[in-house]
Amino acid sequence: MDFIAIAKKRYSVRGFLDKPIEKEKLDKLAIAASLTPSACNSQPWRIVIIQNKELLPTVIECGRFLGSNQFLKTAQAVLIVIETKAILNERIKDKVDSQRFVAQDLGALIYGVCLEASTLGIGSCIIGMFNEKILAPIVKLKDSEKIFGYIGLGYPLSNDIPNKIRKPLKDIYEII
Ligand SMILES: Cc1cc2nc3c(=O)[nH]c(=O)nc-3n(C[C@H](O)[C@H](O)[C@H](O)COP(=O)(O)O)c2cc1C
Repeated sequence: MDFIAIAKKRYSVRGFLDKPIEKEKLDKLAIAASLTPSACNSQPWRIVIIQNKELLPTVIECGRFLGSNQFLKTAQAVLIVIETKAILNERIKDKVDSQRFVAQDLGALIYGVCLEASTLGIGSCIIGMFNEKILAPIVKLKDSEKIFGYIGLGYPLSNDIPNKIRKPLKDIYEII
C-alpha cells in the first residue's frame, strides 16, 4: 500500500468496539514509535500503554478534561507519550536548547503510531488536553520528564472512513 493510501485510511476514531486489542498489536505500535526519526537520534521519549481494566477508567477520565471527549469512555487502551531529556550532539548541544527539536520528534512519533494502528485495523484519536497531575503517578513520571501526548485506541465502531476535510493544496503548497 502506498503511503498516501495509508494516510487517507487513518482518521480520528471517536467510538470503539468493546473488544480488547491483542498484545501483538500493541507491541507493533511500540515498534512503530521506536522507529520514529529524531534530532541527533536522541529518541527523547518513552511510551506507556494502559490497558489494565482497573487503571483504564481513571486514565480515560484524564482525557475527558473539562467534560469533553465523551466517546473516550469506549476506548480499549490509551497510549501515553512521555517526553524525556534529549541528548544532542556535542557539536550543537551548547548552541540550542536541548529540547529544541522535541515537538517535532514526538509529533512524528504520534502520527506514526496512529498510522500503524490504522494498518492494523485499530482506530486512534489523539487527545490534546488531559489531566497530567492524575496521569503522572500512573505512568511513573520522573522529575526530568513531561507528559506530551495521549492517544485513545480501540477497534472502530464503524467501518465508514470519513472524507478528509483539508485545505486545498493550492493554499498550502508551492514549488519555487
Ligand atoms: C494535538 C491534537 C489534539 C487533538 N485533540 C482532540 C481531542 O481532544 N478530541 C478529539 O476528538 N479529537 C482531537 N484531535 C483530532 C483532530 O480533531 C483531528 O485530527 C482533525 O480534525 C483531522 O481529522 P482526522 O484526524 O480525522 O483526519 C486532536 C488532534 C491533534 C493533532
